[in-house]
Amino acid sequence: CQPAATPTPAPGAGGQLPDLGGRELKIASDTTYPPFEFVDPKTNEIVGFDVDLVNEICKLLNCKPKIISTAWEGIFAGLEQKQFDLAASGITITEERKQKFDFSDSYLRYGQVVLVRADEERIKSKDDLKDKIVGVQIGTTNEETAKTLVADEAKQLKRYDTFDLAVRALLAKDVDAVVIDSPAADGFMAQNPGKLKIAGEPFTSEDLGLCFPKGSDLVAPFNAALKVLKENGTLDRLYQKWFKE
Ligand code: ARG
Repeated sequence: CQPAATPTPAPGAGGQLPDLGGRELKIASDTTYPPFEFVDPKTNEIVGFDVDLVNEICKLLNCKPKIISTAWEGIFAGLEQKQFDLAASGITITEERKQKFDFSDSYLRYGQVVLVRADEERIKSKDDLKDKIVGVQIGTTNEETAKTLVADEAKQLKRYDTFDLAVRALLAKDVDAVVIDSPAADGFMAQNPGKLKIAGEPFTSEDLGLCFPKGSDLVAPFNAALKVLKENGTLDRLYQKWFKE
């Protein structure tokens, strides 16, 4: 006689992943940040690395991701009020944010860079920003960094609600440079072929995580699923799909 068939365990997890029973998760995201999250101009759908990542995690945990397009500052206010289950928005894990929120394990490490117009000759690295006008998205780690690079923050730092607006200001010559995460610099270069370039090398090291209200019961399941995606090669496949080298 034959042994009873055993149910197929989740890939690579030995069947140990929690089952969230089809629960719908409200996921806040500032969808103006290619290639992490942005609206595909052809289909009008929200796409990007973070979107694929939460979809893959939710497949493993049996939950339904619902991406809610939210302004950057509103993401954190909404998480504090537990209006969202989590945020996926290229969010850097910082000590300051960890006071108020819980983070998943890191899913990407990268550095910030200086983005300039393709014909820019004066700016060769971050050290050339002391007397330049610099654009950033307000409330980001990039704003914090840019403050330290200009001589007079009040005169030289221009804060925008989105990086999309900061990059438009760069193209319109309202600012000389944008300080931004390197994958997003690549993302905006891809959207504006031949018009932008990176000056110098990445000069910070940051880890991105999914961000949860403090005490969320989702952090452990998400970390378990993330581990599976790291081990079974899915994360590598997503890096290759969305990021250069
Ligand atoms: N990594 C930076 C930060 O956490 C910028 C993220 C901006 N993300 C976005 N979707 N606009 O502050």
